[in-house]
Amino acid sequence: MRYRELGRTGWKVSEISFGAWAIGSMWGRVDDNESLAALHRAVDLGVNFFDTADVYGMGHSERLIARLRKERLETIYVATKAGRRLSPHTADGYNRQNLKQFIEDSLRNLETDCLDLVQLHCPTTEVYYRPEVFGALDDLTKEGKIRYYGVSVERVEEALKAIEFPGVQSIQIIFNMFRTRPAELFFPEAQRRRVGILARVPLASGLLAGKMTSQSSFGTDDHRNFNRHGERFDVGETFSGVDFETGLAAVEELRELVPPGATMAQFALRWILMFEAVTCAIPGAKRPSQVEDNAGAADLPPLTDAQMAKARGVYDQYIRELVHQRW
Ligand SMILES: NC(=O)c1ccc[n+]([C@@H]2O[C@H](COP(=O)([O-])OP(=O)(O)OC[C@H]3O[C@@H](n4cnc5c(N)ncnc54)[C@H](OP(=O)(O)O)[C@@H]3O)[C@@H](O)[C@H]2O)c1
Repeated sequence: MRYRELGRTGWKVSEISFGAWAIGSMWGRVDDNESLAALHRAVDLGVNFFDTADVYGMGHSERLIARLRKERLETIYVATKAGRRLSPHTADGYNRQNLKQFIEDSLRNLETDCLDLVQLHCPTTEVYYRPEVFGALDDLTKEGKIRYYGVSVERVEEALKAIEFPGVQSIQIIFNMFRTRPAELFFPEAQRRRVGILARVPLASGLLAGKMTSQSSFGTDDHRNFNRHGERFDVGETFSGVDFETGLAAVEELRELVPPGATMAQFALRWILMFEAVTCAIPGAKRPSQVEDNAGAADLPPLTDAQMAKARGVYDQYIRELVHQRW
């Protein structure tokens, strides 16, 4: 495993980290023993950063990570999120009182006195124009409830606005071979301000692992079934907002670029690591074999200019028109 500095935190986090949404909820059937085995395997392989949220299985994902922490001696950084338990999910809900309550709940779930990193969980755009929200997070930092805070964003423009607040240490944003716009304006600005970047949905919900076909089916409790068209939350979170059949066609072209001995998932993750502004990718994983595959991406040599150019060509041909200006 290799490590990169996360913004101004002084932490060195694993280039391939762990996304813990799937082990909490909304990804079909999961088994806690298998999820825990995946978490442990990640630590075995040098992963030291885990991304979760209070809403993933209503604390279930956080509680599994708390168990992992108790069972391991290694340093483990946990980034959680707050805000998505609001119903309705409004800007007004991001008030001091609610944030405090969400953070108390996460402290309990994670069995700790101080949260390492709390991210606002894709708040509505209005929240970025309410400095009092960030003021409340500053106060929670001073009170010792949270060590650092950041924001998980939907859009590039929200990311650019969020990093104007000096306390923001990290931005979590969708970035993968099917979602490249963050690299244009946002990455240089985040680097200039020394803000960490967590690349989420790095495998486009598994599509970029190259294992799916038009016959693939997903359980009724899997968002790849029920949110394909944005029925429950932003469609960009499911297959990265790419129409499934178009994504499959693009994957067939990308497959030819995978270096010998590497898997398609490793290639997709290595592509992300080619961008030095990125702190880490946080692929979701449900079982140890996926963790092993994903962690292996950090050991691949850099991709060549020709591979990068061809990947760009596939994006331009199949994906750009569908997603580029939408997020
Ligand atoms: N709003 C937000 O803040 C937000 C939204 C989305 C995600 N996130 C965070 O970002 C993390 C990553 O995104 P994601 O989980 O949505 O999508 P992802 O990482 O692109 O895809 C993860 C899924 O791909 C499959 N997979 C993983 N590794 C694989 C491998 N090596 N080979 C084949 N299949 C593999 C697994 O599902 P199957 O085995 O079932 O196919 C896994 O659950 C999340 O876990 C979460 O922590 C945050």
